[in-house]
Amino acid sequence: MKRVIYPGTFDPITNGHIDIIQRATRIFDNVTVAVAKSTGKNTLFTTEERLQLVEETLRQLKVPAKVTIFDGLLVDFVRRKKAQVVVRGLRAVSDFEFEFQMALMNRKLDEQIETLFLMPKDTYSYLSSSIIKQIAKLHGPVTAFVPKHVEKALRAKYVNVPPTRE
Ligand code: COA
Repeated sequence: MKRVIYPGTFDPITNGHIDIIQRATRIFDNVTVAVAKSTGKNTLFTTEERLQLVEETLRQLKVPAKVTIFDGLLVDFVRRKKAQVVVRGLRAVSDFEFEFQMALMNRKLDEQIETLFLMPKDTYSYLSSSIIKQIAKLHGPVTAFVPKHVEKALRAKYVNVPPTRE
């Protein structure tokens, strides 16, 4: 049985990420969503919060995937989990350079691990966690882009942030 890991920051999980997770579970029996603890990014949600938002999403949608936090090198985590494949989403050509670099570096670090790219539904190709946070911060509607509980969590983060700034 092939085990696959879908790593990311998930700050927060969006419908685009969910689309990739669902596609991965249709191909593989054993999918683990891996929420990165230390990421170069300044995250809005804590690691625990990001994990819980993914957990709740999988539970509500009955997606047969697991979720866990990971720290350190991705290839070490993949090896520890006895997985063989890393899944990543490719939304547009703009993702390619970064993803290409990461996939080849991971291959250099461990030749046994393959990176598999899946394309989300075209309607999600313009989504990113940052753009959703930006809309939520300005008190705009994010209902179409994230699950309800994620929308609620975003609202709670920005409740005291005024909608417009000088
Ligand atoms: N739908 C919507 N948005 C998507 C998406 C999809 N299908 N796929 C990616 N994105 C967005 C994310 O929301 C995120 O947006 P943001 O930049 O606005 O926050 C962006 O694309 C990329 O995020 P993500 O897919 O979460 O990846 P990441 O670049 O944040 O995470 C790690 C990269 C954590 C996997 C990588 O840094 C890593 O492996 N770190 C561990 C350390 C390591 O091994 N380093 C060496 C790697 S070579």
